[in-house]
Amino acid sequence: MKRALGVCYYPEHWPEEMWARDAARMVDAGISLVRIGEFAWSRIEPEPGRYDFDWLDRAIAVLAQAGLSVVLGTPSCTPPRWMLDRFPDMLALDEQGHPRRFGARRHYCFSHIGYRAAAAQMAAVLGERYGSDNRVKAWQIDNEYGCHDTVLSYSPAAQAAFCDWLAKHYRSISALNTAWGNVFWSMEYRDFRDIGLPNLTVTEPNPSHALAFRRFSSDQVVAFHTAQVSALRAYTDAPLIHNYMGRVLDFDHFDVGASLEIASWDSYPIGFLSDRLEADDAQKMRFLQQGDPDMQAFHHDLYRAVGRDGRWWVMEQQPGPVNWAPYNPAPLPGMVRLWTWEAFAHGAEVVSYFRWRQAPFAQEQMHAGLLRPDDAAAPGLAEVQEVAAEIRQMPDVTAPCADVALVFDYASEWTWQTLPQGAGFSYFRLMLDAYRALRRQGLTVNIVPSTVTDLSAYKLVLAPGLATLPPALSQALTQTCAVVGPRSNAVTPELTIPTPMGPALPRLDCTVSRVESLPPGVARHVEGGGAVVHWAERLEGAAQVELRYKDDSPLVMRAGALRYIGGYPDRALWDRIITAAAADAGLELRTLPDGLRITLTQTHRFYFNYAAEPQTIDEITLPPAGVHWEAR
Ligand code: GAL
Repeated sequence: MKRALGVCYYPEHWPEEMWARDAARMVDAGISLVRIGEFAWSRIEPEPGRYDFDWLDRAIAVLAQAGLSVVLGTPSCTPPRWMLDRFPDMLALDEQGHPRRFGARRHYCFSHIGYRAAAAQMAAVLGERYGSDNRVKAWQIDNEYGCHDTVLSYSPAAQAAFCDWLAKHYRSISALNTAWGNVFWSMEYRDFRDIGLPNLTVTEPNPSHALAFRRFSSDQVVAFHTAQVSALRAYTDAPLIHNYMGRVLDFDHFDVGASLEIASWDSYPIGFLSDRLEADDAQKMRFLQQGDPDMQAFHHDLYRAVGRDGRWWVMEQQPGPVNWAPYNPAPLPGMVRLWTWEAFAHGAEVVSYFRWRQAPFAQEQMHAGLLRPDDAAAPGLAEVQEVAAEIRQMPDVTAPCADVALVFDYASEWTWQTLPQGAGFSYFRLMLDAYRALRRQGLTVNIVPSTVTDLSAYKLVLAPGLATLPPALSQALTQTCAVVGPRSNAVTPELTIPTPMGPALPRLDCTVSRVESLPPGVARHVEGGGAVVHWAERLEGAAQVELRYKDDSPLVMRAGALRYIGGYPDRALWDRIITAAAADAGLELRTLPDGLRITLTQTHRFYFNYAAEPQTIDEITLPPAGVHWEAR
């Protein structure tokens, strides 16, 4: 499939006289798609019930006349100020019970039925007007659900909806009391209506209660989303898309994605490195202007799994310095091109840059665009032009070709956030570390959901930290070469300790008999090299011991090609475990130079150099930020 470039554009931010020239310059740069509208509610419906489509009609016409296709956003992430007069209680409340007020964006509670209906109504109004307009090639629903920490709301609307959700799920109050263990501390309830939200309790709430609230909150995002999807479907056959945000894990993206044709995400590599990765200072300095070498690819692979039939886009790509991280360095020359090609190599159909021109006003005035606020080209634009020329010459890019799968499960993130037992235990970090370990050895990875039942396409499967293993997955793991643990199958879906205790894997006689969490700087060393950090388990059972702690107690136990790791591996230990498992799986490994990554597609081998110095491999020297591909 031919890959395409897009850009995020806000016609309402600029005098109309600029639009035609902007459109011509976009086409000239090799851009073919323009996303508009996702924040424009106050211009589309300036007063309740009074719509103004004239400007939007003209904007779409100007863009289409230049040869551009439009991706139209529903503006539900920015309800206008008058919406609050209509629904004064539509705001989310934070954990302390404070309203999250008007004056920025995402100021709504997913559970507010009135606002949910208003958002669906807006989607229907837009659908009615543009749903069969073939200049609108795709739709974006809302913008980055969950960004700015907006999934969990402690509002009266959430409270009422939570009681209904609990009644539906548990059917009887005694079933809920038993499932949660509410006999503890006399927490038993007599009625679903008595159950509050798990905030403002004297000490921590019952983890089962807190996890139920997390599951409920995710379902509320899905319900809010589905209302708009249903409204739009009545009017259009164009693909529907949502743009997810990096490391926003508070709702289940597979559930949201189930009703959409295409998944997309917003990739801000340098912002992420400084803002949301646990990397140490040396790593942050080394990749300061490039971003972490695995964070983007991890999300690419995740959204390939979320999108129907593997269809996914980058809806927003960082084009220069952002404004929102603690520090905002500029990309190393070449990185905008590298990020774009890396997305294509991982199967993206479209990479769309955020944004066309830097806005001289409001919150993001310091955020780069492809153009400067004075209309001159910013450095990112030339790299976009370079990619556009390369796309014209490059044969179609096929999807990645992976022998290895990593199982990713949102509920495990919520489970371990609810019951961390140690401040260093992060499910996401564990997953990213596992993914890094695979990629350091040159492997291409597919991410799969925990609902997967057939893993026969893979030579090796990793499922670390998966809180509860669905029985079908457990079975599937025993039929391949698999690495499970730490903390896999350790709790029931209600967040209680099961009997038999975990990991309780078919044919693997191994039980976690005790766990310890470790503060920073403490490591449990392993015989032969490597160490366990953050989290260490004691294992017992008759299964074969493959690796031992220095004190001789078992760390990795196995039955055939199924391994359980009883601790959180450091980098060296991950390398040992992957090397051993890959040997069983018949996978060829190659330790890559630092910062260099390889992605295999069905037809090509891509090389990406995230390092700030040249790296050589296979007799190819890649400059800093270099990209190279060759036919396989
Ligand atoms: C994204 C968001 C955009 C813009 C961008 C800035 O999270 O979707 O609207 O705010 O960040 O980097």
